[in-house]
Amino acid sequence: MKQYHRIFILTGAGISAESGLATFRSANGLWNNHKVEDVASIEGFERNPALVHDFYNDLKKEVQGVEPNAAHLAITKLQQNYDAEVNVITQNVDTLHEKAGNQNVYHIHGQINQAVCLNCGHVLETWGDVDTETVCPHCQVMGMMKPNIVFFGENLLCMDTVERLLRQSDLFISIGTSGVVYPAAGFVQTAKYYGADTVEFTLEPTANNFLFDKHIYGKAGEMLPQFVEELLAI
Ligand code: OAD
Repeated sequence: MKQYHRIFILTGAGISAESGLATFRSANGLWNNHKVEDVASIEGFERNPALVHDFYNDLKKEVQGVEPNAAHLAITKLQQNYDAEVNVITQNVDTLHEKAGNQNVYHIHGQINQAVCLNCGHVLETWGDVDTETVCPHCQVMGMMKPNIVFFGENLLCMDTVERLLRQSDLFISIGTSGVVYPAAGFVQTAKYYGADTVEFTLEPTANNFLFDKHIYGKAGEMLPQFVEELLAI
């Protein structure tokens, strides 16, 4: 272990698993009840916006009922005690990083507590239900709100910042992501190209596991706090 100056933490569904939220590609994952093309694609939303709104309204309620776990809290500890800039780039639409007190959180796949107006671009923050009759508080047009979730076929959010951080970071940590959904799955390659050390935390080897210098297999809530202690001990 050496002293790092800028740390890039990429998180996926696995970091929230110990909080009780299902991952995407596990046996009880999201896709079992709904086909991905129905609830996470622009075409699916155009076909049946009411179903998509219902789906994310339900997920919103589920997310509100769960708490951050030891892995989220380990990131807070790292940010508060380690002399480096620590950025959290998450694919998760839950808000457990924020609930745990994490700073510098970038939601590249959107956030469950937001909806965006397809008419004027206004982003509405709400934990209440949004549906096909919701009126945009900015342009007053009804029925144009879409969950602010990045669907397949849409661009990721915050990419200017992400690309800069990938070039500037000297440690890249991936936590709980299977490495199959691009472009996020390609971030490690860019970080490595620009010289970062790379570490991944998952339950089992991932699709892009050859790009990591170090693999830590096991529950993030158990393994990440230990790793943070090792960083803090330098
Ligand atoms: P996946 O469900 O594909 O992968 C979850 C990963 O977390 C796997 O590698 C598991 O081994 C690991 N994992 C599970 N429990 C864990 C634990 N307790 N500790 C550590 N690791 C654990 O989820 P993502 O990679 O996040 O996009 O999926 C990427 C994207 O696919 C999602 O953001 C979503 C979906 O399309 C959108 O919704 C836009």
